[in-house]
Amino acid sequence: MGLVISTVNMKGGVGKTTLTVNLATCLAKNHGKRVLVIDLDSQISATLSLMSPHEFAKVRKKGRTLSYLIDKVVKPNPRKKLTTKDMIIPSTCNITGLDLIPGDIELYDEYVVSELLHQQAISGNESDFEKVWDNFERVLVKEILEPVVTEYDLIIIDCAPSYNLLTRSGIAASNYYLLPARPEPLSLVGIQLLERRIAKLRASDRAINPMSIQLLGIVFILSGGGLLGRYYRQVMRRVKEDFSAEQLFQNSVPMDVNVAKAVDMFMPVVLTMPNSSGSRAFVKLTQEFIEKLKI
Ligand SMILES: Nc1ncnc2c1ncn2[C@@H]1O[C@H](COP(=O)(O)OP(=O)(O)OP(=O)(O)O)[C@@H](O)[C@H]1O
Ligand SMILES: [Mg+2]
Repeated sequence: MGLVISTVNMKGGVGKTTLTVNLATCLAKNHGKRVLVIDLDSQISATLSLMSPHEFAKVRKKGRTLSYLIDKVVKPNPRKKLTTKDMIIPSTCNITGLDLIPGDIELYDEYVVSELLHQQAISGNESDFEKVWDNFERVLVKEILEPVVTEYDLIIIDCAPSYNLLTRSGIAASNYYLLPARPEPLSLVGIQLLERRIAKLRASDRAINPMSIQLLGIVFILSGGGLLGRYYRQVMRRVKEDFSAEQLFQNSVPMDVNVAKAVDMFMPVVLTMPNSSGSRAFVKLTQEFIEKLKI
């Protein structure tokens, strides 16, 4: 069985997608792991970090994106014959074992989902709408992954910054979550709020899966120099008091312009500039990731 890991933070722009794609690439390229990246964010950043907009447009035209799979769960239709396997783009960036289920700019219509679940609640035995909704959230991403979970060592889910239906469903389908963050006081508050929310998801899942949804660790994105760098180091001291060693990755990721520039080439920095400081950090972080998981 593959391990499922979500990259989450309710804050935007903290490096979730960058971490997802670089970690996935290092796992496949340097460690020979079979990795599947799933883009659950309608900003499609993970998708466009592994394939060009031109390639994505072709795939989308054929309707081969995550949106098809979500639609199939929301509105089951026997004519929809394609499965999760059919959506997978193998060996992205020419790396064997680095597969992708591309996201979509339109993933689901909140109104249609609410309407459907409301219908289910009034027509079925379950009169409690909240329960119907919670159950739907718990199974949506799980059902999508189920046919391929044995084919991979790791499935890494790139979540949107908001704590929306898909983020919750992705986390609920995960064994672990990874939390990239900047060492800023409000960011630390955000981490604690997110942990509380995930604790709720975990509680409703515990009866079925006692090993579900553990924090694998917080990965800090650091700014090396100047006053900001000094301030971040101060906050890091506070972090070490507030969080246990197991909750933190020892390796952090430095700010490096090459990481930002790689986005222009639709490839992770570990492929475009393997000798940059950002790339070297992702390589070391991946080793720590493997040690933490004992895989
Ligand atoms: N270590 C880094 N050095 C320099 N730039 C970085 C680094 N990490 C991320 N970036 C840049 O910061 C921006 C935000 O990163 P990213 O898209 O990974 O964040 P995110 O948390 O996924 O954002 P969102 O919340 O919108 O999904 C991107 O332009 C990315 O290239
Ligand atoms: Mg992102």
